[in-house]
Amino acid sequence: MKIFLDTADLAEIRRAADANLIDGITTNPSLISQVAGDRDPKEIYREICELVDGPISAEVVATDKETMLVEGRKLAALHDNIVVKVPLTEDGLKACRALRSEGIRTNVTLCFSPSQALLAAKAGATFISPFVGRIDDISGEGMQLVHQIRQVYDNYGYDTEILAASLRHPMHVVECMLIGADCATMPPKVLWQLTNHPLTDRGLEAFLADWNRLGAEI
Ligand code: E4P
Repeated sequence: MKIFLDTADLAEIRRAADANLIDGITTNPSLISQVAGDRDPKEIYREICELVDGPISAEVVATDKETMLVEGRKLAALHDNIVVKVPLTEDGLKACRALRSEGIRTNVTLCFSPSQALLAAKAGATFISPFVGRIDDISGEGMQLVHQIRQVYDNYGYDTEILAASLRHPMHVVECMLIGADCATMPPKVLWQLTNHPLTDRGLEAFLADWNRLGAEI
């Protein structure tokens, strides 16, 4: 399963990239607005692309197909790594199909049902982003959606990759692995939680204490 970081925080991206832990980045307009300040978001996208050699999702902010296409082409021209994120709306699906025909990769975002995911695959989406945590937030079963999309795509042989999104804790990531999601995008905090286990810490502490009693060197 590919691991993506869901952030536009360059320090966090650099840290994860230095550790060779990530395959790509997802951003959204909210994440960009948290870090941009006076900077041109396009500069931030370029910088992310230089840090991570993988798919970097950059989202359009128009809501009509024609302007989405203009924005999508501009974003795609920034760097070969850019994947254009479009919302799962009627216009977003039309833009997805048009971008696909121009050879531009897309990530169809804000997916909350398996039928939406089917339509995105039919429109030629490279990635579909089901938002797990936001369904959990309203007392639904977010992970059930990932299950259903996996089944639908396998039933019909679609090659759109399932990019599980809005993941909030390590168990979400484990469930994605077990279901067979192609990719999981997570906030930096969740990525670092994945590396930790209290038994690893305790075990290492005991090994080192025993070794130190030896007073030997390697
Ligand atoms: C995915 O592409 C989105 O940026 C993200 O996962 C949304 O997560 P949130 O629901 O925690 O905002």
